Amino acid sequence: MSKRVNFTEGEFYQDHFDSRAYVKDFYSCPGGHSDEKNFLTFVLKCLSRDFSTGENKGRMLIEVGSGPTIHSVLSACQHYDEIVLSDFSDNNRREIEKWLENREGCLDWNPVLQHVCEIEGKGQSHVEAALKQRVKKVLKCDVRLENPFHPHTLEPADCVITSLCLEAACKDIHSYCRALHGLSKLLRPGGLLVMVGVLGETFYKVNEQRFSCLSLSKHDIEEALQGAGLSLHEFNILPAEDRENNSVSDFEAVFHLTARKLSDC
Ligand SMILES: C[S@@+](CC[C@H](N)C(=O)[O-])C[C@H]1O[C@@H](n2cnc3c(N)ncnc32)[C@H](O)[C@@H]1O
Repeated sequence: MSKRVNFTEGEFYQDHFDSRAYVKDFYSCPGGHSDEKNFLTFVLKCLSRDFSTGENKGRMLIEVGSGPTIHSVLSACQHYDEIVLSDFSDNNRREIEKWLENREGCLDWNPVLQHVCEIEGKGQSHVEAALKQRVKKVLKCDVRLENPFHPHTLEPADCVITSLCLEAACKDIHSYCRALHGLSKLLRPGGLLVMVGVLGETFYKVNEQRFSCLSLSKHDIEEALQGAGLSLHEFNILPAEDRENNSVSDFEAVFHLTARKLSDC
């Protein structure tokens, strides 16, 4: 059978992605999963640097493919008036909503929140309240569509954040480039894209369930950004430590990048 047929796309997430196990395994402490040393601390540090100067701010922030997580918008949340979170899977969106509404049995983001607030010298309750107040919607999205939020049309965003979504959602480089173009279209001219992802990964596991990943090089991503009318500002890479002993994924490196939408696109 060809690789294409086996690639786990959005529908597979809808039926097989265990939202609670994912957060428990990868986000229950700031160190992340014990097999993925320094992955999460690197990501949180980069996201913190993106927003700590206060230069990156605006009205509208959209996160695409949030999963059941909120960590990607913790550093940004006080700098944007309205935040939209999103994912393809109903369970993932439900878990976020439960946390936003402080419902019983919601996921515990305290260790990650505390870590981010410590590195930024902020009060945890302030940041948590700002995020809960500013998230206006948790929407269904599908990055395979030209407009990922179809049938809704969102106002142009000042910032789009996406983490570990496109390589999980796109079965080949053509779909990846198309999806990045769709994300670029969500931005106003000059708007900021913040992307976290992995290089050279073919799979990851949640609760022993295997999910596909599109294996990407830095060059693939640079070309995709250019094709999507995005001008690269920063590309930070942390190589995987002890890849041979990682039982939950085979990533070669984790990356964080920032790019701006060109004015004429
Ligand atoms: C590895 S998780 C990343 C979650 C989170 N952003 C993070 O950084 O941990 C991949 C996410 O992509 C979502 N996804 C898969 N296919 C998608 C699609 N076609 N459109 C939007 N999201 C999709 C899954 O539901 C899942 O939440």
